[in-house]
Amino acid sequence: MEKRKVLFVDDEQGILRSIKRSMRSEPFYSLFAANGQDALKMLQKEKVQVVVSDLNMPGMDGLTLLRKVAEHDSDIIRLILSGQSESMTILNAINEGNVYRYILKPWSDLDLKITIHQSIDLYNVKQERKEFLVKLKKYSHSLEETVKKRTKEILAIQNKAEIGKYASQIVNNLNNPLQDIRGWIDLSNFVLIQDNPDLTKLKDHLNFIQSGICDIEDQIAAILNHVRKNTLIKNEPININKIIKKELIFYENNSGFKKIEKKLMLADSLPFIMGNPAQIKQVFDNILKNSIDALSEARPKRLAVKTCSDAKFVTIKITDTGKGISREHLPRIFSPGFTTKSVGKGSGLGLASVKAMIEAYGGRIRIDSKEDIGTSVIMSIPYQ
Ligand SMILES: Nc1ncnc2c1ncn2[C@@H]1O[C@H](COP(=O)(O)OP(=O)(O)OP(=O)(O)O)[C@@H](O)[C@H]1O
Ligand SMILES: [Mg+2]
Repeated sequence: MEKRKVLFVDDEQGILRSIKRSMRSEPFYSLFAANGQDALKMLQKEKVQVVVSDLNMPGMDGLTLLRKVAEHDSDIIRLILSGQSESMTILNAINEGNVYRYILKPWSDLDLKITIHQSIDLYNVKQERKEFLVKLKKYSHSLEETVKKRTKEILAIQNKAEIGKYASQIVNNLNNPLQDIRGWIDLSNFVLIQDNPDLTKLKDHLNFIQSGICDIEDQIAAILNHVRKNTLIKNEPININKIIKKELIFYENNSGFKKIEKKLMLADSLPFIMGNPAQIKQVFDNILKNSIDALSEARPKRLAVKTCSDAKFVTIKITDTGKGISREHLPRIFSPGFTTKSVGKGSGLGLASVKAMIEAYGGRIRIDSKEDIGTSVIMSIPYQ
């Protein structure tokens, strides 16, 4: 740390000389001014940490000078060296925070030195506290920036479906370290408002905050990696009819599905769409599962799957005669987390991820439904 500077202001040359002599071997620089004007000029040139001023001086008196010093730099610790004890003006100045302490004339060298050392210590602690606060702000700012930046990156990745699928897990994984960080920042603020903040404690807190940020960055890196690997790399021609048939065969093992009367109306020459077959499979998977659930108590149990195409889109329509969706629920079915199923049975992420996936392919999805009659899911995906 650079050597601290103390400025002594007194109109009596004899006093300044004697202070100069006694401060000669102290570990700080001593500067001297014979009046308030000179002292203020000096502050423009030098970064001073402590000012010790006489009270009564011709021109500008000590209290006026210290008030101006505070205006110039409120961090400077201000002391009065005065012959008047108990003066109301000094006490008021101390109470108002303009003056840290006063030293009585004639002073003892030892007292003066101790007071100056205490003032420098106080300056240093305040400075460290300030730096800590700046660091803390920087950390929380950088945290916010990281989250913002990564969120953008995630959104920029065309296929949002994977994220929909893992949404609750992602939220959880990110939320835990965020909660921790918030806790450490609260604790740090609590320590900082104490009169003598424990800086080692604060440094520990900073370390915890930093490790929380690393946690978040790791999680995000893992998610991005996963999404890139699983979604972006694969871009192959997909025969939707083939995927539907495969899915239906797979579901024949499901006892609820066996009881359903199925009708397939697949277009003869359906154009291929480009993408990741695993994702398209997931789309049907989610929709079929919903239909099977909706048909469990219904009579008759019918499921129809139809595909067709026009100049731009391949369209898939899946219709069931299940219990249907009530008018009040219909606007919410695509919201992540919306479910009418019991705890453990539905997470409410199925249709949200289907919608995200279809839209990532540049497609559209619509659901028509009537309570006690049935539901149709209609999806259109563009092909090149
Ligand atoms: N074919 C359907 N018939 C009747 N209701 C449906 C149908 N498909 C969806 N729903 C309603 O929409 C809600 C949301 O469906 P979604 O697939 O998003 O979640 P979920 O099936 O409840 O849970 P999961 O995350 O396991 O899929 C369902 O809880 C259900 O109420
Ligand atoms: Mg579902």
